Amino acid sequence: MTDSWPHQLLDWYRAHARVLPWRNPPGRALPTDPDWPYRVWLSEIMLQQTTVEAVTPYFHAFTARWPNVAALAAADDTEVMQAWAGLGYYARARNLLACARVVVERHGGRFPGLEPELRDLPGVGDYTAAAVAAFGFGRDAVVIDGNVERVVSRLHAISTPLPAARAAIRAALAPVVPQGQAADFAQGMMDLARRVCTVRGPNCLLCPLANSCAARRAGTPDAFPVKAARKARPTRTGTAWWIEAGGHVLTILRPAKGLLGGMRALPSCDWRGEGTPPLAGDWQSIGMVRHGFTHFELELVVQALLLDQRPDLALPGEQWLALDTVEAAGLPTLFAKAARLGLAAAQERGKMAA
Ligand code: ADE
Repeated sequence: MTDSWPHQLLDWYRAHARVLPWRNPPGRALPTDPDWPYRVWLSEIMLQQTTVEAVTPYFHAFTARWPNVAALAAADDTEVMQAWAGLGYYARARNLLACARVVVERHGGRFPGLEPELRDLPGVGDYTAAAVAAFGFGRDAVVIDGNVERVVSRLHAISTPLPAARAAIRAALAPVVPQGQAADFAQGMMDLARRVCTVRGPNCLLCPLANSCAARRAGTPDAFPVKAARKARPTRTGTAWWIEAGGHVLTILRPAKGLLGGMRALPSCDWRGEGTPPLAGDWQSIGMVRHGFTHFELELVVQALLLDQRPDLALPGEQWLALDTVEAAGLPTLFAKAARLGLAAAQERGKMAA
């Protein structure tokens, strides 16, 4: 049955596949490079919650610096966290290191190729285990991410809301994955989902699966996937402290556990507004930045204090950064935004003094 929708999808993918640095082109035998599964795994962790466009430069930087899992396992934690800065969801970076070390210690530096063993690795859930098994090892895994969910919900006009619909989506997909071509099939679904069957709405005129699509037949492709009502994200407020002395600004290392754990940052209160500045002084408010986290929106007020001499505060991981090195210091995005206000204020002051 070469005219079934999975085969129509494979045909479309062969003609339209995006070229991506972690992707084996359609129809090709799996690369024999022993580090191939490492590259697949690394890309999959980076791509969780992040776009291909944002990930690509990070993927190149990581694979140039740490070309295999043993190199990454031996890396300095702080350097990895810094290299990850800007990608967000920093627990992923901590799990990345933990996983690399488990692969070296438990598996002799080679990723296991079966889903149950993959799922036992830190930071590897059902989706990532299936993706590494399929894309890294050519196994017939059923790879289901949010993109695949969207396409299948529309194809079958599944009216159960997500996430409850996941069981129905898996049940619809598992029997039709073309054997021996699970990787091309899954990546074809992902490309179709990003280019044709998009979040904003399906472009059915361009869709190779239009004739098989129940949502299109019903005339309401936009109505799928049905989603359970989302709770509004609460807004929290906080304060970050920009302490500047002699052309340097004070940074700290955040505690290993918790939000932005282990990252270099400006000192700040917690995200419920609790906390006092690390020292008393003539604090000036220099603005506010907004940042969206998974479960809340943060409004972070930035206060600045200008001192003649560096105080000795003995904060955890305390480091004074020269102002012209702050932008390249690998601060996570929230604090990079806050630091931009501090740098702008310093520049203003410089102009007024000139
Ligand atoms: N998202 C996650 N994995 C992907 C892949 N291999 N290709 C395209 N998008 C993806």
